[in-house]
Amino acid sequence: MKRKLHTYASDALVVEYDAARCIHAAECVKGLPTVFDPNARPWIQPSAAAADEVARVVERCPTGALQYRRTDGGAPEAAPATNTVRLAADGPVYLSGRIRLTLPDGDVVEDTRMALCRCGRSNNKPFCDNAHEGAGFVDGGVVVDNQLRPAEADEGGVVEISLAANGPILIRGLVEIQATDGTSRSGARGALCRCGQSANKPFCDGAHTRAGFEAE
Ligand code: SF4
Ligand code: FES
Repeated sequence: MKRKLHTYASDALVVEYDAARCIHAAECVKGLPTVFDPNARPWIQPSAAAADEVARVVERCPTGALQYRRTDGGAPEAAPATNTVRLAADGPVYLSGRIRLTLPDGDVVEDTRMALCRCGRSNNKPFCDNAHEGAGFVDGGVVVDNQLRPAEADEGGVVEISLAANGPILIRGLVEIQATDGTSRSGARGALCRCGQSANKPFCDGAHTRAGFEAE
């Protein structure tokens, strides 16, 4: 996992920006252009709006590239009540909720927002780095056959995400998968394709072995 961390402070909060996780065209720029202006230097000016407004827009960053810390006693970000896995057409999976991601080296990332690669081509795995665009990754982001297992009594709250070696994204904990056609499916425990080769996307069908997928 790469990090390119920059911080921008006002009297009320510190905005952290990890350029290695920024892929999205502009939730921040559209949401608050006086603060997030790619043509200005620095490009983030947190003093240019009320802290609550800055925090609200940071929380809309779907990749987690933007984070904030209140230094004025304001409330920290609250995780959404439901853990969701939103499929992007021809792109990544966006996770939202109480997420605990264990990386192959044992490091743990706890976050409320992440975009994970499912085309197999990111140079910043497991995060998406927009390589799907150059790779011509094609997947409509619909779910034909829900392969998530039903939740058991102790599954809820935090969703644990881990990565099979040269294989799928493993989910343990209750999630709602949101497809691009507006439908959703719930369940806990499942394996999502991250090599881009499964014939049953978004789920893994073992194609990574046949494809010789190398994640690390
Ligand atoms: S909303 Fe997040 S991912 Fe999108 S452009 Fe802004 S920082 Fe990057
Ligand atoms: S899905 Fe975006 S780089 Fe793989």
